Amino acid sequence: MKTDKIIKAAVIGWPINHSKSPLIHGYWLAKAGILGSYEAIGIAPESFNAGISNLVLQGYAGCNVTIPHKETALNKADSVSDRAQAIGAANTLVFKDGKIFADNTDGIGFINNLKQGAPDWRASAGTALVLGAGGAARAIVYALLQDGAPKVLIANRTLEKAKILSDFFGDKVGVVSINEVPDALGEVHTFVNTTALGMTGQPELIIDISSLPKTALVTDIVYNPLTTDLLKQAQGLGLITVDGLGMLLHQAVPGFEAWFGVRPVVDVELRQKVLAG
Ligand code: ATR
Repeated sequence: MKTDKIIKAAVIGWPINHSKSPLIHGYWLAKAGILGSYEAIGIAPESFNAGISNLVLQGYAGCNVTIPHKETALNKADSVSDRAQAIGAANTLVFKDGKIFADNTDGIGFINNLKQGAPDWRASAGTALVLGAGGAARAIVYALLQDGAPKVLIANRTLEKAKILSDFFGDKVGVVSINEVPDALGEVHTFVNTTALGMTGQPELIIDISSLPKTALVTDIVYNPLTTDLLKQAQGLGLITVDGLGMLLHQAVPGFEAWFGVRPVVDVELRQKVLAG
């Protein structure tokens, strides 16, 4: 059998066994009937350079990159998308003619999840409040601004980290302390939790969002549980909610399209498969 026609992609990380990416890409490969493969490959931090070079040599079309390689991958790339540069990390690599192109699709995955889950939602309709100031927050603040958010407020346990992000992104991005969040909510159109609080095994996210406007959208990047306490509270208040599972699915779309040449669709069956797997 000739194997050189099989388009190969992978996800690399350390550890890698919990990654849902093989399930997602495997579903799309089967659905589109593409002769392709997508596997999870564990690469230890000290082996990153050799590991990537091996994938390029073996003719891989590219790979997803997860913890702890996201920053290293950006630095190793020959060219970098504007969004990966701004976010300071890469999650998607495309190999072409022996060169590495680095992209970051977390932010666009976040936005496209909201657009699918709440079709009438617009970033441009009002202020966003982002809880957290880590890597996920950075990608989300960038994407909200790109999508037209007029103002983004960042609230974080460590205020200094929120200030660093706001300084990086400029005038449209401000900082509020955790204590100031309840007073800020009245003008918030989009409320986002980017911390791991509320995830199974993590501390609870204790926050009162009852002063959000009735038209506000609440979303959480935590998807285990799928309906977090934050989303339950929002639903109880009659607010629009979008869960975090779709961000994971939508961030995978651009990589699949770049490697396999078909733009895949995030559908209910995929959601169910990932939840079950
Ligand atoms: P990620 O890349 O997933 O965003 P990260 O960079 O480690 O992860 O960021 C985690 C975020 O969750 C940070 O904003 C962190 O707050 P600090 O900057 O103060 O560390 C927030 N976070 C994590 N555990 C928290 C907790 N117990 N209480 C409040 N915030 C917490």
